[in-house]
Amino acid sequence: MPADRREFLASAGLLALTALQPGRAAPPPSDKKIRIGVLGGGFGTQFFWHEHPQCEVAAVTDLRADRRQALRDAYRCDYAFSSYDEMLAKAGDRLDAVAVFSGAPDHVDHACLAMERGLHVISAVPACMSLEDAERLRATKERTGRRYMMAETSYYRGASIYARELHRKQGFGELYCTELEYYHDRGDLNRILTDKTTRHYNPDGSHSWRWGLPPMLYPTHCLGFLVGVTRERIAKVSALGWGQEHPLTTDNAYNNPFWCESALMQTDQGHMSRCNVFWMTPAHGERARWYGEKGSLAMAYGGAHADLWTDRSMTPDRPNDPAPLSIPDYWKSDMLPAAMRHSSGHGGSHTFLAAEFINALLEDREPAVDVYEALAMTVPGIVAHQSALRGGEQLAVPRFDRA
Ligand SMILES: NC(=O)c1ccc[n+]([C@@H]2O[C@H](COP(=O)([O-])OP(=O)(O)OC[C@H]3O[C@@H](n4cnc5c(N)ncnc54)[C@H](O)[C@@H]3O)[C@@H](O)[C@H]2O)c1
Repeated sequence: MPADRREFLASAGLLALTALQPGRAAPPPSDKKIRIGVLGGGFGTQFFWHEHPQCEVAAVTDLRADRRQALRDAYRCDYAFSSYDEMLAKAGDRLDAVAVFSGAPDHVDHACLAMERGLHVISAVPACMSLEDAERLRATKERTGRRYMMAETSYYRGASIYARELHRKQGFGELYCTELEYYHDRGDLNRILTDKTTRHYNPDGSHSWRWGLPPMLYPTHCLGFLVGVTRERIAKVSALGWGQEHPLTTDNAYNNPFWCESALMQTDQGHMSRCNVFWMTPAHGERARWYGEKGSLAMAYGGAHADLWTDRSMTPDRPNDPAPLSIPDYWKSDMLPAAMRHSSGHGGSHTFLAAEFINALLEDREPAVDVYEALAMTVPGIVAHQSALRGGEQLAVPRFDRA
């Protein structure tokens, strides 16, 4: 960076912002341990629960023997059960909480079963896949008084942590627009039809829950960047979809004809958000751009560029050209217990999600992505998919906030 520009950024306070450090996440000093049971030995093996000094993995379960073994190995836990029901029946009394990492359509059933049994829950995304289940999840959480958290990885990506702090310190000015993207290419379409080892099949050869999944029923990696930064609610949405003829789009449990969906949303504060979820695209991953009246932040993407900050208060003789930003590796900091200060999946977010859930239980408070934030990140996608099926009709998004 040229010296005059560095001088300018420093005087504008931007270099100070690069060192933004949100509050620590270290647990309170006490002997209490949270005993957690883990359901799901695929993605559910990646959360380092056993590294939190006040967490013990007390039981694990998967229907599949290979995945039960993966859970035992990941968490060094020998109390492995061959079904969730069995784990709750035989080990439920020894548990404080469960981590639900089953397939997406089962999250609400599995989360509610645990809460009804008096256990706290952290659930993989999405929180739910229908408005009825959104209401059931909220009602069960409120009636049982248990803690609920959704493990949204976008919430703890470095750029998100940074944007949240920037927003809190009013660094964006009014944050009037976001562009949010989640791309997960389905790959070779012929292979999907013939190779039963892909994620589109269950071990018995039947179609898995991923077969033909409507993109907008999986919106949280996008909305985590908006709701997770400003806590706004989506009020209205209009969406379009695109698909081609293929067994995935003509013969699926969801009656979903789309590979890709794009939604234009308005928040309860009149702000705009464009949200893409694409399953058919030569791109991969999650990214966000935040546009404010004072400044804009663009997340690094696929090595194409660094994180960028553009500031409106540049002197008039200079264009508003973006400056590369060095977002700290927050996971190296004392925001995490010492044993968890290592890189982890989805931009370092996994250790944060685990630590936040355990710390919330130890501190007897709601976790950062509680049931209301989780539903605010999930429900707009359900309505967006309805809009896409109706050719883009703008629809109101119901709110599932505290009753
Ligand atoms: N970035 C992210 O946040 C992210 C990334 C990947 C996956 N996920 C989510 O995590 C969840 C798990 O992902 P995955 O790829 O491992 O899915 P998956 O479908 O491959 O695995 C789910 C596992 O749950 C087990 N299971 C289901 N019902 C059970 C029961 N009653 N008892 C015991 N085990 C049971 C299955 O046997 C299976 O092994 C999904 O909901 C997915 O949406 C989120």
